[in-house]
Amino acid sequence: MGRQKRSFGNMIDGIAKWLLKFRIVVIPARYISNSRFTWSLVSRTDRIRTRRLGNRIINEELPNHISIIMDGNRRFAWSNKLKREIGHFRGKEKLKEVMEWVLNLEIKYLTVYALSTENINERDPEELESLYDLYEIGLKEIADDHFIHSKRVKVQAVGRLDELPERVRNAIKIAEEKTLDYSDFIFTVCLAYGGREEIVDAVKEVASDHAEGKLSLLDINSDEISSRLYSAEIPDPDLVIRTSGEERISNFLLWQIAYSELYFTDVHWPSFSRNNLYEAIESYQYRRRKYGK
Ligand code: FPP
Repeated sequence: MGRQKRSFGNMIDGIAKWLLKFRIVVIPARYISNSRFTWSLVSRTDRIRTRRLGNRIINEELPNHISIIMDGNRRFAWSNKLKREIGHFRGKEKLKEVMEWVLNLEIKYLTVYALSTENINERDPEELESLYDLYEIGLKEIADDHFIHSKRVKVQAVGRLDELPERVRNAIKIAEEKTLDYSDFIFTVCLAYGGREEIVDAVKEVASDHAEGKLSLLDINSDEISSRLYSAEIPDPDLVIRTSGEERISNFLLWQIAYSELYFTDVHWPSFSRNNLYEAIESYQYRRRKYGK
């Protein structure tokens, strides 16, 4: 019986190979897979799946703070035969979309890693200039975005901001000033940011306060470090998402993610979909949080 099945399988394989050789199947298959009907079916199925997932996640406890390592702009560009700059541009556009999805879920804190201290030292000057252009444009767009104002989102940037060009610092100032009075949601962009550098800066402040007699040795504890971090007023992330397949933290919020749930996806940042976000949140909801206990 097993042998009969195998020879039947071999026969089917043989016919398939023969048909493929003469392009009898390839042409109609390509036509069907590229047809408007197939695409509309696929996108409709996707929309239904996302809606169902959305309904599921809002019935469970959502994370209060999501932080994202937006990785893979260049690989997205490369795999789609686009220029590197287009990959970064699509990354900026994706950020605006993701902000909207997160705000619609009423998740109060969103923090994104947009430029590391390592990026400043390692990327070629031409790429850095085009990234600086994007931060400038992107922050100004966010500062004028109707949705950001209607949701009363406070926008802030953290990192060694003095390492950024003046035009980017100016755009940060505009975005921060225009949203200064809001507190319903907090959107934090990490620029010229490094987790180790942030800890070093906090420790320097602790040392200086100790030297001036404002802080005794006995009073130095993790709360004293936490309160001197760049974004001391926001809670630690509940969920960290990294796109594009790399499974490491790359100097992002090292102190703050001690108990965060980590979620890695192979999708390049510009292709990150609402469904991908919901899947990350669902995965977070499945895990039992232990806080090191
Ligand atoms: C990492 O991908 C991404 C960056 C270094 C830049 C991310 C910037 C944006 C998404 C724009 C943000 C805009 C505002 C307004 C904050 P990569 O270049 O390392 O890509 P790769 O991993 O494929 O090499």
